[in-house]
Amino acid sequence: KMAIPIRTEKEIVKLREACKLASDVLVMIEPYVKAGVTTGELDRICHEYMVNEQKVIPACLNYHGFPKATCISINEVVCHGIPSDDKVLKNGDIVNIDVTVIKDGYFGDNSKMYIVGGETNIRSKKLVEAAQEALYVGLRTVKPGIRLNEVGKAVQKYTESQTFSVVREYCGHGVGTEFHCEPQVLHYYADDGGVILKPGMVFTIEPMINAGKKEARVMGDGWTVKTKDRSHSAQYEHQLVVTETGCEVMTIRDEEIAEGRISRIMVNV
Ligand code: MF3
Ligand code: CO
Ligand code: CO
Repeated sequence: KMAIPIRTEKEIVKLREACKLASDVLVMIEPYVKAGVTTGELDRICHEYMVNEQKVIPACLNYHGFPKATCISINEVVCHGIPSDDKVLKNGDIVNIDVTVIKDGYFGDNSKMYIVGGETNIRSKKLVEAAQEALYVGLRTVKPGIRLNEVGKAVQKYTESQTFSVVREYCGHGVGTEFHCEPQVLHYYADDGGVILKPGMVFTIEPMINAGKKEARVMGDGWTVKTKDRSHSAQYEHQLVVTETGCEVMTIRDEEIAEGRISRIMVNV
């Protein structure tokens, strides 16, 4: 098993840059997420912004054959939705856009939910809010010296307390000069010995939570993952670096800082 890289301050500067650009894409696209737009068009806007304005590489494009620059996942789609000109958004849809950029060889990975038209049914609204809070619960858990499985334990406990379920098949991951590396970040408790967190470790937390049962299935296109029971699913993702006193949320957005439920520098000790 490969060791988990401890990033130097120089590398952290590079990752911070990549993460800021990745988070900027999620902010940039928000006004375009409206009824009538296709996920294909949203992907094109993100793709052109990344390549032409930001001068970054969209990490998803051609990753293990993925055909688009972003993943866009609607309603019962858990993750890895393939943007398409045939998929038209309608009011009340809940949509995840997942953006990963490569800047100077360093990766920044994040995602958030959008509610098309701003309103949806009460349970889907609660699901989206719980997905965000599940991520925040994870971020509030991270500090050096703890076992990584404490993160999944806290995320699962919170999620189930809200009457939702945690998807098991997909997890957070180490990220840096590769898209996906060690450690695996489970969003549920596993008695797996759990690596001990150390300052300089960089990984994502990205819980996928379902309104119904936890099971997920990959569709015939080889990518799109849906809930087995076709209940709605929601996900938020941040990339972080473990610090001496907690973690730094490298993909944090200004709207989140203003909200005050998390901060860039999380003090968790
Ligand atoms: N961005 C996703 C993640 O959070 C990975 C997408 S891989 C793709 O790990 F190939 F589907 F784009
Ligand atoms: Co990720
Ligand atoms: Co992602």
